[in-house]
Amino acid sequence: MRLEDIPLVGALEQMLFPIDAWPLELFYDEFSLVETRAYSVAEIDGHLVGYCGVMVVGEIADIQTIGVLPEHEGKGIGTAMLTGMLEEARRRGAAETLLEVREDNPRARSLYERFGFEHIHTRRGYYRDGVNAHVMRLVLETGAAHEPSGDES
Ligand SMILES: CC(C)(COP(=O)(O)OP(=O)(O)OC[C@H]1O[C@@H](n2cnc3c(N)ncnc32)[C@H](O)[C@@H]1OP(=O)(O)O)[C@@H](O)C(=O)NCCC(=O)NCCS
Repeated sequence: MRLEDIPLVGALEQMLFPIDAWPLELFYDEFSLVETRAYSVAEIDGHLVGYCGVMVVGEIADIQTIGVLPEHEGKGIGTAMLTGMLEEARRRGAAETLLEVREDNPRARSLYERFGFEHIHTRRGYYRDGVNAHVMRLVLETGAAHEPSGDES
């Protein structure tokens, strides 16, 4: 992600997360925290089609956000971005990765499950509209990046 990508990322965020969108300023804040954050975008023919970010503090990584434009879903972009974030987390020394996902977002949950994330906790009423969050965890293997096997969907 480049600084100049942030306005468009912020606009996509409003579209993808109408209830819980991050304000634009939060992307600028996150982007500036280079010691503990790594933000990326996915592009097709120079057009931004997705964005994601991971935080790594000590041995714990946290998937901060991931989003793909609706017309580009199902092409493996989310898989590629998640793979990239997990590689970066490993590179920075993380031993495990956590994330929160809406209970009513089966598509995202199944993406994470394909990578081996396990539901470890439910945060009741976590989101602004009262929907529960599932906290999911993946223990990171050292060595080769773990990618989904492709036969789990
Ligand atoms: C969740 C999200 C990031 C997934 O991104 P994506 O790019 O569609 O993910 P992928 O394409 O890698 O995988 C999604 C599906 O496409 C399939 N797929 C992956 N690669 C594929 C390919 N090359 N060709 C066809 N299908 C493919 C996967 O099997 C998967 O199927 P399923 O989810 O129906 O089981 C995206 O749906 C999104 O942005 N949603 C809105 C925002 C959101 O909910 N973010 C998560 C917040 S926690």
